Amino acid sequence: MIIGGGAEGLDVLEKAHALGLNVVCINKKKHFREAFLPYVEHVVLTDYEHVENLVAIARGLHQLFPLDGVISLTEASLLPTAYVCEALGLRGNTVESVRRLKDKVSMRRRLDEVGLSPVVARVGERLEDIHAFVAEHGLPFVMKPTDASGSLGIFKIFEPSQIAPAWEAFQQLKLPRFLLEEFLDGPEISVETLSFHGRHVMVTATDKLITEDTCVEIGHAVPAPLDAGTREEVYALVHAFLDAMGLKEGPAHTELKLTKKGPRIVEGHNRNPGGRVTELVTLACGVDIKSTALAWACGMGEPLVEVPTPKGGAAIRHVQPIPGTVREISGLEALKQEEGCVDVRVLVKVGGRVNPMRSGEDRIGHVIARGATVQEAILRGEQLASRVRILTDPDRAAVAA
Ligand SMILES: Nc1ncnc2c1ncn2[C@@H]1O[C@H](COP(=O)(O)OP(=O)(O)OP(=O)(O)O)[C@@H](O)[C@H]1O
Ligand SMILES: [Mg+2]
Repeated sequence: MIIGGGAEGLDVLEKAHALGLNVVCINKKKHFREAFLPYVEHVVLTDYEHVENLVAIARGLHQLFPLDGVISLTEASLLPTAYVCEALGLRGNTVESVRRLKDKVSMRRRLDEVGLSPVVARVGERLEDIHAFVAEHGLPFVMKPTDASGSLGIFKIFEPSQIAPAWEAFQQLKLPRFLLEEFLDGPEISVETLSFHGRHVMVTATDKLITEDTCVEIGHAVPAPLDAGTREEVYALVHAFLDAMGLKEGPAHTELKLTKKGPRIVEGHNRNPGGRVTELVTLACGVDIKSTALAWACGMGEPLVEVPTPKGGAAIRHVQPIPGTVREISGLEALKQEEGCVDVRVLVKVGGRVNPMRSGEDRIGHVIARGATVQEAILRGEQLASRVRILTDPDRAAVAA
């Protein structure tokens, strides 16, 4: 059974089909795509976040078509999936551990309990809570939702003058509380893992490039170019983190900052990494995280024991044309012929819009490159992305600014 997912989940359905699995698909009506139909046997369109209904539906289906496993395709279905796994006794993670991962306050509390990745963090509800935090811990700090994704509502505060505008903007999100964290300074990476009955396999570390102000992910590279000592330290921390969260099965994506005081956890998810990171992992490391996780969830195949030494590197770089209305797109076919170019994709058409990079939704194209080393892949990715010609007529307001 596969729960949730929009167009980005199509490749998992294809992989399930390729593994010979008969898929029962549970999705919200607005996210179901006609393109899913060739890969699914049965479909139930329902609000799967109504957990009581979902469990009842899953029980009924399980009687008719005994389920081998259940996986989630999207952030919103992680917790519902854990409920189904628990109710039907299927391989998966407990509701408790998934809830702990999703709620950044519980996650930090648990890390404090076990003495891992010390990060000053406080929950707040009012403007006074922010001032009290600053009086005690100083600047800079980060204000963010306790449970959100897609870098929604993340505010980095370096100056006292930034507090009032951030508070104003945060209120627009209509969330009852926020998390204040010490600012973790340093390069950002993630670690992709697969767990088998509580044994965690570190598949790779991923280097992440984000926009300075809005934290939008505009590049990833695998394997992250870490020295052996740092990699060991990071892997040991992620190992202990997953144990502390109680994660036992399947994929996880743990985000970290490499600070001067050592690696620190930003957050973790028990799901595949987003974007096209899994493809980079397959290109560089020869491990197909999605297929391995699917097979394991359904009791097929052997657990992964060792990850082969990476054969090279792979990188994705998003293009960043000047915001405005697209006038011309050219040169894509020629780029595809370049050495090391794996994919060039532009999602916008002539007459379409290029927005400033405020969230992942504003990414309109990318290049994927491979190389003998990750450094070579990054360099190629950057060079190729800079040659994607998307000419825009900038907005008048932007020109005036
Ligand atoms: N304490 C912190 N110090 C420095 N940067 C931070 C901190 N917390 C978050 N960030 C930055 O903000 C980004 C988004 O934060 P976080 O991952 O907690 O939120 P999210 O909305 O779940 O993100 P996403 O879904 O994009 O991964 C991080 O990747 C990091 O760049
Ligand atoms: Mg994150």
